[in-house]
Amino acid sequence: MKEKVTGIYYGGDYNPEQWSEDVWQEDMRLMKKAGVNFISLGIFSWALLEPKEGIYVFDWLDRILDLLYENGIRVNLATATAAQPAWMTCKYDDILPVSKDGLKLSYASRQSYCPNSPSYKKGVERLVRTIATRYKDHPALSMWHINNEFGCHTSECYCDTCAHAFREWLKTKYVTLDKLNMAWGTKFWSQYYYSWEEICAPKTSTTFINPSMVLDYKRFMSDSLINLYLAEKKIVNEITPDIPVTTNLMDAFKPIDYFKLAKDMDIVALDSYPDPSNPNSYHTTPLQYDLMRGLKNGKPFILMEQAISHVNWRPVNAAKKPDQMRLISYQTIARGGDGIMFFQWRQAQRGSEKFHSSMVSHNADENARGFREVCKLGHELSLLSELKGTSSRNKAALVFDFDNWWALEGEGKPSSLTTYMSLMEKYYTALFNLNIGVDVVPTDTDLSQYDIVIAPNLYMIKPGTKEILENFVHSGGTFICSFFSGIVDENDGAVYGAYPGPLSNLLGIYVEEVSPLNADETYNISYDESPYNCTLWSEKVHLKEASSIGHYESDFLKNSPALTVNSFGSGKAYYVSTLPEDSLLEKLLSQIANEKGISQALSVPKGIEVVCRYSDLKQYIFLLNHSLEDQFIKLPDSMTYFDMLEQKTVSQGLTLSPKDVKILKC
Ligand code: GLA
Ligand code: ZN
Repeated sequence: MKEKVTGIYYGGDYNPEQWSEDVWQEDMRLMKKAGVNFISLGIFSWALLEPKEGIYVFDWLDRILDLLYENGIRVNLATATAAQPAWMTCKYDDILPVSKDGLKLSYASRQSYCPNSPSYKKGVERLVRTIATRYKDHPALSMWHINNEFGCHTSECYCDTCAHAFREWLKTKYVTLDKLNMAWGTKFWSQYYYSWEEICAPKTSTTFINPSMVLDYKRFMSDSLINLYLAEKKIVNEITPDIPVTTNLMDAFKPIDYFKLAKDMDIVALDSYPDPSNPNSYHTTPLQYDLMRGLKNGKPFILMEQAISHVNWRPVNAAKKPDQMRLISYQTIARGGDGIMFFQWRQAQRGSEKFHSSMVSHNADENARGFREVCKLGHELSLLSELKGTSSRNKAALVFDFDNWWALEGEGKPSSLTTYMSLMEKYYTALFNLNIGVDVVPTDTDLSQYDIVIAPNLYMIKPGTKEILENFVHSGGTFICSFFSGIVDENDGAVYGAYPGPLSNLLGIYVEEVSPLNADETYNISYDESPYNCTLWSEKVHLKEASSIGHYESDFLKNSPALTVNSFGSGKAYYVSTLPEDSLLEKLLSQIANEKGISQALSVPKGIEVVCRYSDLKQYIFLLNHSLEDQFIKLPDSMTYFDMLEQKTVSQGLTLSPKDVKILKC
């Protein structure tokens, strides 16, 4: 692959077709002033590029590509497939998606296509081939931006085309109806199928729909969206084999198995819009960055979109405070970001997003705070080129699995309060507060590089997971798993014999019964002879080989184990049968980290985030001040560091004002 942008990618979505060409000239001046080197172009341009079926108009795109190139700016060229033209929707009746309730959605918005629509797919194939052929040798072309945020507005469709495609997907998966009936448990509620044609899409029904079917529909829809990506990627790869291909992902986005999608992405890209007024977002959002890095086994990613300040799609759209955008940008870079991009370059004058902040705002004032911050960051990033491609070296991992997410949150569970991401975030926050770097990994990965592996929930155990976890612990690793794990197989069929099923040996326990707590209910537990609260869930745990390290003090569970540890081979496996209050989770994880010799890169006061990236020879320590006060950081006596943002050496210690960032090289 050709790397055409040296240094950190910096820029944003650019929609020049909304502006006259004299504005383009001003854009070039301002982009250079801001240090922009990379622009995403043409994302929503289909209607202008193909005014009539098979007739293409490229003159404006030719001109802007030339202009950008002349100004030293490289292009992340979109395939423009995220919103089909109105003429196409009107002409073909298989394009508009159908909601779960059977409502055919209308258009005049965006992404209003069924992911299995033959007409949409045919139009895409023709458009992508035409764009790729036209620009294959354009020197500005540096990356392909396939579609836009797959699944963002239409993540599921329930039309007849999709129902048919679902049946074909099921035939490939199960081959025989017998196997499908068995996997879905269709002897229940008279759901048995005698012919493939009887199987429908799981539209809204009378009450709970067969959970195994719903799970398969989620997998099928995720595959349908991934297939759209793959179809486009195949075309651009054929025509421009050296140009890297990406698409912009959206945080931990439930509808698509991003681990599966990312296998075919040359570089992962993320759109991230944390609510600037949410006081928790600084310690939950970085989970998304760690996930993005984890999608390709530690490879860096690009922050493809973020807001300069406010968005326009929340009920109240808080502005980012001075320096907040900079702090968030560095938080991203610290965790593997190789690019900082924005939605969007110039604030729209018309349309639904005209009140979304942009690099150049409605007031078009280059002295406005937003643009000044954009220029400052652009200048700083130009000093940080050597960070590009550097990696993380974390010793802790968090297991993340889309099948588990889908299955855990299906209908008919013991508690609908148990949500996958909230458990992830609880464990993640504890690690974040301890400044323990963590990789987010799938269930089928090699864990040997880690000392600690945490699965906040493993409701579903897929084939192979048990062995991977047992091998990891057997060879000395520490595994921590929390409640309602080891419950079902990959088809959402419950294990028979005791919970936690395949994890029983590893954890050395069995669970006799589960007892979820109401939203306002709290139990007490005792750990290290101190009392703590716990919420959400409780279980009657019995010890086999494991020992109890904390017990319930409440109700019928009084004195029964709440937290256990089991020695297994040379390692240890912990079980946490409830959701402990934050301080207990932090205490437990800190004790385990100490035992494993994992510590933060520098010792810092509370409120300072410490994260490292590494090249072969250098360590880059990021210090980020999330607190509201100045913070003094004492540096180890014998060490001298290079402060990359100030471009000077430092030793002894340094002070960080609120929201400030330092990057120390050693
Ligand atoms: C998404 C889209 C952009 C824009 C922004 C606004 O990330 O990809 O086109 O709509 O949201 O926040
Ligand atoms: Zn459909």
